[in-house]
Amino acid sequence: MSNFGSQGVCMYVCLCHGVSDKKIKKLILNEGITDIRGIKKCTALGSQCGKCVRQTKEIINETLAGEYRQAS
Ligand code: FES
Repeated sequence: MSNFGSQGVCMYVCLCHGVSDKKIKKLILNEGITDIRGIKKCTALGSQCGKCVRQTKEIINETLAGEYRQAS
């Protein structure tokens, strides 16, 4: 398990298009986007080398798991 962006540190997930973990979390929490397809629609993430896709999926899962824990 990773801890992307913990302690307020901003990290670029997609270096090709400059998409940060903070931006991804914002899309999940504020816009209700819960899958990689939705993130790709809102950003250019994954459209070049694709190395960021796996990491983005982990961020989505961690963010959603955190929301679930907070709600219960
Ligand atoms: S790092 Fe995201 S497309 Fe290359």
